[in-house]
Amino acid sequence: MAFPVTRLRRLRATPALRAVVRETAVTAGDLLLPLFVHEQDGRSPIGAMPGVDRLSVDEVVAEARECARLGVAGVILFGIPEQKDAEGSQAWAADGIVQQAIRAIKQDVPELLVVADLCLCEYTDHGHCGILCTTTAGITTVDNDASLPLLARTAVAQAQAGADVVAPSDMMDGRVGAIRAALDEAGFTDTPIMSYSSKFASAFYGPFREAADSTPSAGDRRGYQMDPANGDEAVRESLLDVEEGADILMVKPALPYLDVIWRVKQASRLPVCAYNVSGEYAMVKAAAAAGYIDERAVVLETLTAIRRAGADIVITYHAKDAASWLQ
Ligand code: PBG
Repeated sequence: MAFPVTRLRRLRATPALRAVVRETAVTAGDLLLPLFVHEQDGRSPIGAMPGVDRLSVDEVVAEARECARLGVAGVILFGIPEQKDAEGSQAWAADGIVQQAIRAIKQDVPELLVVADLCLCEYTDHGHCGILCTTTAGITTVDNDASLPLLARTAVAQAQAGADVVAPSDMMDGRVGAIRAALDEAGFTDTPIMSYSSKFASAFYGPFREAADSTPSAGDRRGYQMDPANGDEAVRESLLDVEEGADILMVKPALPYLDVIWRVKQASRLPVCAYNVSGEYAMVKAAAAAGYIDERAVVLETLTAIRRAGADIVITYHAKDAASWLQ
């Protein structure tokens, strides 16, 4: 029955009515905070990400404690090693910076979920997400199959350090299967894989690359990350990762890809995570600093929209602020 019998404004009249018919909630327990850990003392600010610093292991533990206090579900760790090489060997070194940070957090705040981002780009001297090779045509490219054992080795090192979840973000074909096999072989049959299953070649990663010092020295990532124009392919990528053993899927970035979050959720019925990336964060911070938007309202609306699109988990640099606003 249409107007005047049906009046949708009836259920919008008071905060109490709006609250009982609200379809989507965001809670601190849905959020993961990314942390950048470096091999230096203290904190150093990241230019394009106001409020986000690179942290020493001690400072990472302090942040982890703060997350636990605020009810944030967990943290996802990125390493910035002093030594980089062609293979990215600090990614899997037993005393690599992320492994140190995992152990320190698990010792101090064992209840907090610790997710290890799994990629080689922060560890390779060329900045690509795998090792390089030259094709017969003389083109330098990332060698997919040769990179898989290195990623698998990194997953095992992260699990050995105590990571609750490993999260491959490299976009090599077959990496979820290779990582699952290696984890199982090493006895980590219960360590879940949160796969960055549809990760787009996005300009929204700009500030992160400054933070993680991981801009490729030559070329770009379009040979392995996805074309932003492709939604069907994102579903295909995600379902392939499910076949290989992914436990949680991820869509990244979040806000320009809400349709992809929806489609991946509908097609997979797996838990889906969305990564509200550095460029999305930087835009909000810049506009808020200029006085153009209300930061708190924009952040909470954004997180609600990402959840409404189908994300169960949201990785966001706003996690601590959002958690304190939601208390
Ligand atoms: C590493 C990785 C990147 C991000 C997460 N993991 C950068 C990239 O692929 O270039 C981006 C996160 C962000 O922008 O907040 N492969």
